[in-house]
Amino acid sequence: MRAAVYRAFGGPEVVRVEELPKPAPKAGEVLVRVRASTVSVGDYRMRTRDLPKGLGFFGPLTIGIFAPRKKILGMDFAGIVEAVGEGAARFKPGDEVMGLTGMKFGGHAEYVSLAETEAMVLKPEGWSFEDAVALVFGGHTVAECIRRVPIKPGDEVLVNGASGAVGTAAVQAAKHFGAVVTGVTSGGNAELVRSLGADRVIDYTAEDFTKNGKQYDVIFECVGNAPFERVEGSLKPGGALLLVISDLKGMLRAGRNSRKSGKRVMAISFKPRPEHVAFEVELAEAGAMRAVIDRTYDLDQVAEAHRHVEGGRKRGNVVLRLAGA
Ligand SMILES: NC(=O)c1ccc[n+]([C@@H]2O[C@H](COP(=O)([O-])OP(=O)(O)OC[C@H]3O[C@@H](n4cnc5c(N)ncnc54)[C@H](OP(=O)(O)O)[C@@H]3O)[C@@H](O)[C@H]2O)c1
Repeated sequence: MRAAVYRAFGGPEVVRVEELPKPAPKAGEVLVRVRASTVSVGDYRMRTRDLPKGLGFFGPLTIGIFAPRKKILGMDFAGIVEAVGEGAARFKPGDEVMGLTGMKFGGHAEYVSLAETEAMVLKPEGWSFEDAVALVFGGHTVAECIRRVPIKPGDEVLVNGASGAVGTAAVQAAKHFGAVVTGVTSGGNAELVRSLGADRVIDYTAEDFTKNGKQYDVIFECVGNAPFERVEGSLKPGGALLLVISDLKGMLRAGRNSRKSGKRVMAISFKPRPEHVAFEVELAEAGAMRAVIDRTYDLDQVAEAHRHVEGGRKRGNVVLRLAGA
């Protein structure tokens, strides 16, 4: 099979297409012929070891010390079940599926084999593989946020980083649950964020959302520049700060900050769950969430895709198309 492989940490050029043996499904596994994946910030972080402050010490243990432990990146996939291992009964060959490999990675290859209990569901008929996969990474993260802090009709919700993969999903999900949504983005992305349902958009290049006196029930922090210390005053009493991204200090202080302030501070973890993928499918089928695709690249252009993601300015998702898609 062809796969995007990186054997050393570094710039986008370290990712190269190689021919590797096709995996065989082990007992309880499903072999998926991948048609599309995304190049996400997660892939960027693994390739460069650019981790939030304080995590640099622990990172190498999972990412690799001298060389990458997982050679094939790609945290999500949409494709067709090619074969199933002994005892696997949830899916059958020919099923169209979508899901998240998460920290196991492996989505940037023509085939991935994963346990049938992993975060994978049937892809609705009529959806393209590209659209399906573009819902997974952000939608899954937001499902975890909403599991931790349900959004209620009338809640004032602010999404910092509203034009990214997670932000675009957060804006749409919050709107679906009846919130009044404010998206923070740069002016060039204001229209996109409005089109996803945001009631208000704050251009961070012109206004600091923490300085305008406005308070929110829930803040999704998807940028890395809005720790509790900066946004405490922007949370209503009892309000929640969902730290999709945070440095180690912010994570360790979450509990203490919550107890001290009476506001809820939560560091969001990334544990793949099938019900989270089902959640985004449900929202999309209800017309409440759409895939936001910035650019689509073929596997041979994988380094270029990485280069674009590395810029930190992608709008929604960058899709990687595998052969045959
Ligand atoms: N905890 C978890 O489980 C989890 C899961 C997924 C992701 N993450 C983390 O969450 C973060 C967001 O991920 P993502 O995939 O959404 O990233 P992304 O798609 O790369 O986000 C890019 C967006 O960030 C916006 N942005 C950049 N600087 C900004 C600022 N100062 N204020 C507001 N928006 C700004 C950009 O908009 P402009 O071009 O308009 O600036 C761009 O559209 C990453 O750090 C990622 O590692 C964590």
